[in-house]
Amino acid sequence: MSSRREEILKELGLWPVWRLRTAAASPAEPAAPPQPPAAARVAQSAPAPVKPAGARAPVEPAPALPLDARAAEIMRMDWPQLKASVAGCTACPLHQGRNKTVFGVGDEQAEWLFVGEGPGADEDAKGEPFVGQAGKLLDNMLAAIGLKRGENVYIGNMVKCRPPGNRNPEPLEVSQCEPYLHRQIALIKPRLIVALGKVAAVNLLRREATIASLRGKVLEYQGIPLIITYHPAYLLRSLPDKAKAWEDLCFAAETMKNLQSAQAAPI
Ligand code: URA
Repeated sequence: MSSRREEILKELGLWPVWRLRTAAASPAEPAAPPQPPAAARVAQSAPAPVKPAGARAPVEPAPALPLDARAAEIMRMDWPQLKASVAGCTACPLHQGRNKTVFGVGDEQAEWLFVGEGPGADEDAKGEPFVGQAGKLLDNMLAAIGLKRGENVYIGNMVKCRPPGNRNPEPLEVSQCEPYLHRQIALIKPRLIVALGKVAAVNLLRREATIASLRGKVLEYQGIPLIITYHPAYLLRSLPDKAKAWEDLCFAAETMKNLQSAQAAPI
């Protein structure tokens, strides 16, 4: 093991306990069939419309779109439209307390997509995901498997505005915000998604489950392999589970290798 890697593992409090898994990645487990929209998935006010450069602000606010129509509109957006729409979004009450929206960061053609829950205070101040203590741990976790923020890696969240007091986002907040993440995923087309924590996991899978029951499997989000692990903020409070997170990361790295070689293999 290189000394850099050893240093990272020591930093994570994982040396010399963590071991690389060598078993082959499990076959993909299909996600549960899409479920009907939850009661909370109701129409709210539409996000601020995307203004063409130089256009004057509309006098009347845009009429609220039903959620499905709004989601369909978001699914047609390109990156600049999507960023502008998130920046001006007022679709749920979280916009009232935010300083900055936190769109997501990284390589827009990344093979790796990491999805967290929602911004905390540091992220709300900076407008970038995972820049606080949990972010430092995430960066170390990435480094431990040879990855770096922004280099073939994209990092996003289920919701783009900070829930007050760092509470979990409410179902209505997630339902209003998730079309943005779905569009980001459609544009990035990652080879593998890693969900960080339960909020991202259950919302991407569209079913309730514990992290413990979802770990160690290749699940699926709309045909894209999906692996679940603990949220870095949880790991900061629960040192014993860092070892499990390391297993999950090694499993994800191995799954990525398999996915890359499956694509490279001649037909
Ligand atoms: N926790 C998250 O889930 N996302 C962030 O961006 C920061 C902390």
